[in-house]
Amino acid sequence: MKIAQIKTKIISNKRFSGNYWHLEFESGVIAKNALPGQFVNIKVNNGLEPLLRRPISVHRVKGRKVKLFYEVVGAGTQVLSQRKPGELLDIIGPLGNGFDYRGAIKAKAGKNILVAGGMGVAPLVFLAQRLLRPSGAGNDTIILIGAKTKKQVLCAQEFKALGCTVRLATDDGSVGFRGKVTDLLKQQLSVTGHRSSVIYTCGPRAMLKAVSEIARENKINAQLSLEEHMACGIGACLGCVVSTKDGYQRVCKDGPVFLSQELIW
Ligand SMILES: Cc1cc2nc3c(=O)[nH]c(=O)nc-3n(C[C@H](O)[C@H](O)[C@H](O)COP(=O)(O)OP(=O)(O)OC[C@H]3O[C@@H](n4cnc5c(N)ncnc54)[C@H](O)[C@@H]3O)c2cc1C
Ligand code: FES
Repeated sequence: MKIAQIKTKIISNKRFSGNYWHLEFESGVIAKNALPGQFVNIKVNNGLEPLLRRPISVHRVKGRKVKLFYEVVGAGTQVLSQRKPGELLDIIGPLGNGFDYRGAIKAKAGKNILVAGGMGVAPLVFLAQRLLRPSGAGNDTIILIGAKTKKQVLCAQEFKALGCTVRLATDDGSVGFRGKVTDLLKQQLSVTGHRSSVIYTCGPRAMLKAVSEIARENKINAQLSLEEHMACGIGACLGCVVSTKDGYQRVCKDGPVFLSQELIW
């Protein structure tokens, strides 16, 4: 896997809604090599503050262009949102191990069940993009998106445009299923069955844990994309380890995607 450190011009950096932003840059190497679930590590500023890079998932790839989707949550993402088109951004990527979706493409049967909580949609759009390539297994790809309210449901139109079946769950019932996306997942599995299904998921830790449990009960494989605080982002500092059946593993290098049965919660 080719990893590049590049300084590239920002093509666009626009507010999508509220605290959510889209940033686009050009990099032939990252666009060509990135797999869904992988991320880039960004030096958001030219100065020393903030010192550490910030990890953001690859959201979409089109030709040589790479698109990110991020939420402003603190100092680093705030600085990133102030960066202007034409300015240079220092980026390392693509990093980590992404989703393994080759089996789904080959099988041409079974269902791909994508489960997203909040910003967890970010890497799953890229996954849907790959699953839905002509002749892919995309016809049977469903995305369950969970959010607190209708306003916080992200990327539903994007998934629809890619050809996914979209189902929504909101805590307050303002749109879709009233309740947690994991309850919607249980309902979905009871209606459609789950033979040959694979779950791909990204979102808050509690949601991932619940998805793991549902996958175990239903004997389905689930691939989970974890988010941990990171320092180096390249496997050197052990700052992002999680406990697995094979001992501690680094989210940045061995993940961020892990099989649910590997993790110890
Ligand atoms: C592999 C990976 C992929 C990611 N992809 C995306 C993405 O596509 N879009 C996106 O918006 N965000 C993504 N994130 C999260 C993003 O990296 C953090 O939100 C960002 O680094 C926060 O930086 P900050 O300086 O703005 O906030 P900080 O000031 O560092 O933190 C603000 C708040 O966010 C929490 N936080 C910060 N980093 C993380 C983290 N890694 N995991 C959980 N909580 C965190 C802090 O505890 C704090 O409450 C990803 C993280 C990882 C590890
Ligand atoms: S962030 Fe340094 S090992 Fe993962």
